[in-house]
Amino acid sequence: MNNFELNKILGAVLVALLAAKVFDITGSSLVAPVIKLKKDVLVVAIPEGGAAGHAAKEKEIGPITPLLATANIANGEKSFKKCMQCHVIEKDKPHGIGPSLWGIVGRAIASLGDYAYSSSLKEKASAVWDVEALNHFIHNPRKFAKGTKMTFMGIETDQERADLIAYLQKAAH
Ligand code: HEC
Repeated sequence: MNNFELNKILGAVLVALLAAKVFDITGSSLVAPVIKLKKDVLVVAIPEGGAAGHAAKEKEIGPITPLLATANIANGEKSFKKCMQCHVIEKDKPHGIGPSLWGIVGRAIASLGDYAYSSSLKEKASAVWDVEALNHFIHNPRKFAKGTKMTFMGIETDQERADLIAYLQKAAH
């Protein structure tokens, strides 16, 4: 074997090593995003709930009054935790992100002078929060008042809304 041949062999080995290295890098960078993508797709898919979840929200709901007779106030108090992120219900406590809900059942819509309501809710100020208005608003805030700044998904279950409204009635009077 002369030097020239040895160089050729060494050269070939070097090329092979380089190729393996390059392939390795390409390989892992090809695999990594695929795994990551799978993860992202899963994370996005679950909370979205799909179009079906949205369609269910558009359904018409019946009157809540018949369910109020047998409503469970203790369960309503538990549901109110969903509202506490933005609302207080105790008398004389300052507003949160949303207006205080003290005395909300029977109170005129958007009627607290020291709270900056959306114009969407202010347009309804001639009406009162009776139990049916609350029922619709809590079921789907944006359907009741398009453009409301209450960014809350709504409560789907009739009984849960009844329990919650019964709690609002009891706690805030
Ligand atoms: C993410 C914050 C947030 C959550 C959670 C939330 N709200 Fe609200 N709420 C608001 C905001 C903001 C407004 C003011 C809406 C506007 O001006 O359009 C509001 C307004 C209201 C009003 C109208 C009050 C008035 O003076 O006219 C009622 C009633 C109400 N919310 C009830 C509830 C109930 C019951 C829940 C729980 C099921 C709840 N909200 C959950 C932010 C929230």
